[in-house]
Amino acid sequence: MTLPTFRTVQEMRDQVAAWRHDGLRIGVVFTMGNLHEGHMSLIDAALENTNRVITTIFVNPTQFGEGEDLDSYPRTETRDTEMVAERGGHAMFVPSVSEMYPTGFTTRVLVDGLTDVLCGQARPGHFDGVAQIVTKLLNQAQADATFFGEKDWQQFTVVKRLALDLDIPTEIRGVPVARDEYGLALSSRNGYLSQEEIEIARKFNVILKKAAYDIGTGGFASDVCEKAAEAILKAGFEKVDYVECRDPDTLELVEKAEGHACRIFGAAHLGRARLIDNHLVN
Ligand code: PAF
Repeated sequence: MTLPTFRTVQEMRDQVAAWRHDGLRIGVVFTMGNLHEGHMSLIDAALENTNRVITTIFVNPTQFGEGEDLDSYPRTETRDTEMVAERGGHAMFVPSVSEMYPTGFTTRVLVDGLTDVLCGQARPGHFDGVAQIVTKLLNQAQADATFFGEKDWQQFTVVKRLALDLDIPTEIRGVPVARDEYGLALSSRNGYLSQEEIEIARKFNVILKKAAYDIGTGGFASDVCEKAAEAILKAGFEKVDYVECRDPDTLELVEKAEGHACRIFGAAHLGRARLIDNHLVN
């Protein structure tokens, strides 16, 4: 089965306008391709909430830092399109770099505060690139709703903020983390792991969940997070970027969970992959 694939913004807008003219509600799922079940859960959510779903694939160069995997990031458009078609998606938007960043492009979108912490510290400039491309994609698609995976909770928070601040009329919805049977959060970068590393990676979620429980039952977040970071290293990870407990909306640090909504966030390196995950502290 094949799907219409738009390469230009104009083609996508024409289709969106035609659907809207027919009274249909339009959903969009933004991806960098190399799709897996985690992306499919976003498409499922979009199909449940809207009548027509466009999936975008664009490996956005401005969100990759020096030495990161931009060049080696898997480009698998044919397989991705087949997966989306089988799942029931309606169209693809797969623009080129020059369509997205034509000569003379110079605008940046900076979301202060939310982008300086967590992954923003470990990957300087990453969220500036994400904010820039997501703002463009939201304006290009002009969809009714878009769906973001909660594994990238910080990204989801940054996008909600920018859509609110810039009066972008698309609903920004979160979709719970898709996990394998052992609880490992699904990610394109899991593909970089050997079988032995996958076994280690599966301990990440277990350690974070236990830490969330310890904070939820009265532990001091800084102590619990320190112990969790040690446990992650002991499990076989090479480096921990952070384990921190933060407010889900402002991303400010939280020390005691009592009466305060919070989530625990972790990022750690294993082989060629950098894994992130987060859990609600009840
Ligand atoms: O989460 C991703 O895959 C990317 O950051 C996104 C939202 C598609 C922007 O490039």
